[in-house]
Order: sequence, then C-alpha cells, then structure tokens
Amino acid sequence: MKIELAIIGGTGFYHPEIIENTKELLINTPYGDTRLLAGTYKEASVAFLSRHGEKHGVPPHRINYRANISALKDLGVKRVLATTAVGSLKKNLSPGTLVITDQFIDFTKGRDGTFYEGNSSGGVVHTDFTEPYCPQLRKNLIKAISARGIDFANTGTYLCTEGPRYETPAEIKAFALWGADVVGMTGIPEATLAREAGLCYANLSLVTNYAAGISPHALTHREVVEMMQKKINLLREIILEVLVALPKDRECNCWNKEDYTLGQ
Ligand code: HPA
Repeated sequence: MKIELAIIGGTGFYHPEIIENTKELLINTPYGDTRLLAGTYKEASVAFLSRHGEKHGVPPHRINYRANISALKDLGVKRVLATTAVGSLKKNLSPGTLVITDQFIDFTKGRDGTFYEGNSSGGVVHTDFTEPYCPQLRKNLIKAISARGIDFANTGTYLCTEGPRYETPAEIKAFALWGADVVGMTGIPEATLAREAGLCYANLSLVTNYAAGISPHALTHREVVEMMQKKINLLREIILEVLVALPKDRECNCWNKEDYTLGQ
C-alpha cells in the first residue's frame, strides 16, 4: 500500500470521520509500533494518525514521535498536515482563532528528537530550519482558509514546551519576550523529524485558551477540549480539502536533503 498524504490529529482530533473505507494499520518501525488509519477522501488515499491515541491516553512527552514519522515514511507519505491545540500569548489571537505557524521555538527537554544518532545510525546531520514548515503546504492552507472568510493568522511562532503541565505566568512572559505567539506541547520534534525524513509538513494551530497569566482563570484541559469540539468539523474539512487539492509536484526544498546535510 502506498499513501502520499497524511493527517496527524492533535488534542480533540481523534478520528477523521469524513475519510471513507478506513482500515486500521499497525506499522512496525525500528523505533516502535504505530497504529493509524488508512482510507480515502475524494478518491485520494489518506492516512490518519491520532497523536495522543484514540482516547487521549498518550501524554505529550511520551508520544513516540520517531515511530510516528517513520511509520508515515514507510507508507510512502510525502505530505503531512498536523493540528495542534495551543494557548495564546497575544490578546489579538483570541480562543477560536486558527494560526498557520511559520516559525517555532523548541523548549522541549527530554525527547528523542532526531533520526541521526551518529556513526551507527545515520551519521551526523545538521538540518536547515530557516523555513521550518513547508511553504507550499502553508500557502495552500492560507488560500483555503482565506476562501472561507474566516478570521485567522497566516503566520505565528509556536513555542513547544515539554509539558505535561501548563506554564507559569513567568514562563509565558519570558516566551512572549522571545517572540512566541502561541504555546503547545506536541509540535516538536514532530516537525523536525518530518523534515529529517524529507516529508513536507505544516501545522495548523487552534487557539483553545489564553496562556497562563493572560487567561483570567486557571487553565483546564476541559476548556481546551471544548474549544476543539467546537471547531473540529471545520479543521477536518480544511485539512482534507487542502491535502487532496495540492498540485502533484512538490515545489519546495523539504525533501531536498543534499542541500543541508553533512556526513552522508
Ligand atoms: N499551554 C500549553 N499547551 C497548550 C495550551 C497552553 O496554554 N493550550 C493548549 N495546549
């Protein structure tokens, strides 16, 4: 089976629903096993992977990011659109707003964040991240969301924390000074591994709450899930519509490793 398009669903996005003929696949990778769904949407084959598992049983720091990206690569996937729930550091990015992130800051601590572990495994590779997310996928997301007349942000810096706790107000103030717009717990190393694997990858964030210290109340997982529930059908539609309408040719450098790798 060869599938070129994939969705990684974050918090609140556990099932693709509008994908048809779905069947569950268990993919064995050198990093562990990954379960995902394969199906069709408007005649295109699409894979769907729920990052936290179907019942939100896997916390952000325990997600096997390497197995997930490796499994997609094995299926033949070339393009991935991912969703993330985020807290907002900016008053003008209110809950319910969609953000097509264009930069990230990695504040994770103990994650397996590379496929290149030295001589016995892939050699030494330093990957370029000047343009962290696939420009072609971002362009098409912007086009599809603009066409719907929805209020959204076409850029944004995503800061990824280790989690699973939420941040302190002092951390949020510091992150805002660094230039972060939104904060989440799962975008990295997913995006970096995807680039190492030569996959086009873009992230569509949904602001589910104002971040700690900006929000007038203590944060709860419930408010995050409730906002996701309000917007989940919209997210599904946008992501699938964009994936299946993409031109066949990749017009980016996400897969062009020769430009930025060493030691191969
Ligand atoms: N912080 C970190 N992760 C999140 C948040 C937040 O405020 N909201 C949703 N995911």
